[in-house]
Amino acid sequence: MLQIDQMTMRFGGVVAVSEATMQINKGEIIGLIGPNGAGKTTVFNVVTGIYPPTKGKIFFNPGEGSVDISGKKPNVICKQGICRTFQNIRLFKSMSVYENVYMGHHMDLKSGWLQAIFHLPPYPKEVRENREHTEYLLESVGLADERNELATSLPYGMQRRLEIARALATRPKLLLLDEPAAGMNPQETKDLMAFIKKIRDEYDLTIFLIEHHMDVIMGVSERIYVLDHGVMIAEGTPEVIQSNPKVIEAYLGVE
Ligand SMILES: Nc1ncnc2c1ncn2[C@@H]1O[C@H](COP(=O)(O)OP(=O)(O)OP(=O)(O)O)[C@@H](O)[C@H]1O
Ligand SMILES: [Mg+2]
Repeated sequence: MLQIDQMTMRFGGVVAVSEATMQINKGEIIGLIGPNGAGKTTVFNVVTGIYPPTKGKIFFNPGEGSVDISGKKPNVICKQGICRTFQNIRLFKSMSVYENVYMGHHMDLKSGWLQAIFHLPPYPKEVRENREHTEYLLESVGLADERNELATSLPYGMQRRLEIARALATRPKLLLLDEPAAGMNPQETKDLMAFIKKIRDEYDLTIFLIEHHMDVIMGVSERIYVLDHGVMIAEGTPEVIQSNPKVIEAYLGVE
């Protein structure tokens, strides 16, 4: 579904990611780990079009053949079916829980502005469908009772789930989660693991996940990639990764 081919991302003199190659298959939950500053978020930023890669290519294949998305604009990539959440939660602060999820549908809107202003087809039908989909998503992520609350008034764990619900509103095929457990308490973290598996199955998703909580990464990922100083140092199942000396060294340093 996603092929990252020898991708390099350079910021001035900093090589954030160096010739990284990764492959994600349909339906997989893939983890991306590495120490602080390893280049994990940069991988997401390049895949979602925030930065064009300095070198290398990104291909996306949701089923109908491979598309080169390297350097495409974020809205174009989102429309192709890749959506993400952010390391630092980015919700619409002055909007309610319901409005945040409803707004997610705007990336997927087929009506043009003329149809929207004059309420011409397919706009009314789209609005109705998006409202229903919003209700469905709120129910699915367990935020139906909070629908009228201000997004930022929610506890941290709920805000994270709300951000995921808003991403799901764009009807993605590939969902990128950047540290979804950050700031969560142990119970919320445990719930999140079950939640990630649930949405993968329910929405037929492929999930690419950055996380520092090792129990989350090891508990939900089918395969894991490890970045260290921008270089891909390991790839494998959680068992293989946990016993890989290079990974242990990257995390703990050499004595
Ligand atoms: N826009 C930018 N301009 C300059 N340098 C950047 C930019 N974005 C990232 N970097 C640098 O690239 C390197 C990788 O950063 P990145 O945010 O990808 O790391 P990370 O693995 O996500 O770290 P963390 O675990 O702390 O979130 C860092 O040295 C960072 O300072
Ligand atoms: Mg990061």
